Amino acid sequence: MKSLKIKDDIYRLGSVDWDRRIFDALIPLPDGTSYNAYLIKGSEKTVLIDTDDPEFKDEFMQQLENVEKLDYLISLHAEQDHSGCIPFVLEKFPEAKLIVSPKCKGMEMDLLHIPEEKFITVEDGETLSLGNKTIEFIHTPWVHWPETMAAYLQEDKILFSCDFFGSHLATSDMFVTDKARVYEAAKRYYAEIMMPFRKVISKNLQKLMAYDIDMIAPSHGPIYWEPELIIEAHKEWVDAPPKNLVVLPYISMHSSTRLMVDRLVEALTRRGVAVEQFNLEVTDLGKLAMMLVDAATIVMASPTVLGGPHPAAVYAAYLANALKPKAKFVSILGSYGWSDRTVPVLSDLIKGLKVEVLEPVLSKGAPREDTFKAIDKLAEAIAGKHKEAGIL
Ligand code: FEO
Repeated sequence: MKSLKIKDDIYRLGSVDWDRRIFDALIPLPDGTSYNAYLIKGSEKTVLIDTDDPEFKDEFMQQLENVEKLDYLISLHAEQDHSGCIPFVLEKFPEAKLIVSPKCKGMEMDLLHIPEEKFITVEDGETLSLGNKTIEFIHTPWVHWPETMAAYLQEDKILFSCDFFGSHLATSDMFVTDKARVYEAAKRYYAEIMMPFRKVISKNLQKLMAYDIDMIAPSHGPIYWEPELIIEAHKEWVDAPPKNLVVLPYISMHSSTRLMVDRLVEALTRRGVAVEQFNLEVTDLGKLAMMLVDAATIVMASPTVLGGPHPAAVYAAYLANALKPKAKFVSILGSYGWSDRTVPVLSDLIKGLKVEVLEPVLSKGAPREDTFKAIDKLAEAIAGKHKEAGIL
């Protein structure tokens, strides 16, 4: 990618990673991603905000070839997809100072072995003059690491938000064009890394509301020229109550669990409760995470294998527990042959969730009529709990 002009003296640099399909060896990226950096030329000082994933080092350094002087390199976040090329930039511009939040300094010394004398740390609200332009630093911790900050270019009303408001989306569009596509990619991104820090993110959102923002330039995905699109979406994901939705991750070996899942889906649908079911044998875990953003209830379903729940169900339960979704109710469906530890093992894995546990349903062998009746009762309980809690 060539560097692209956003407006006079402000450029987008970085790379579009069309082929990346997994992030942190954990997060599925069906639509690739981008790593955005920004170059701002003030009348007196030139500053680079963030760098690039080290995999794109050569492309990134080429974008800096015609930059004669760099006064400051601002690193908003220590994760290597944005900080990984800092050592190369500092090597090319030895006079440049590296501006970070106080927490970021130690992290980048550890992760990138950058010498202490290179750093300048900035407090929340501190400003940096580039001559005719002023950058204000806004600490926005836990998006999704503790050291994260944003940079607000006061004269141009541009918020450089790093991971905050980002979307894992590879596109040749510098600005958002297809809003629905970006909304989906940004929701996936929020679900996969930010959801566990909802309370801090809510505070960060409130803090940013004090700023007059014309444009949001994140470190992943296209730039928002209508910031309200992504700000309102985050308010909804973070602060709105859960929806009348059950998320049902399941796995089945010989169809017993599958028959139980089918019955529960039918029984819930008949009672006006929406369901999103995910067969863990084939599911995209990012999509599951996205649905957890809104769900009021989670029901996990697994057969017994090797004396406990299927490993795929264990993984899903562990992930749900780590993502800390808004869900208020949880239950479990399970089938077994001769012994069963599915319910205690899964219950233990989700003990970090602040939920009410509704009576699990177990079937010895293939489900019989009494199992289906118990599942109908569970559906009735879920619908009743949603109604009672005012969940629409
Ligand atoms: Fe895009 Fe947390 O790095």
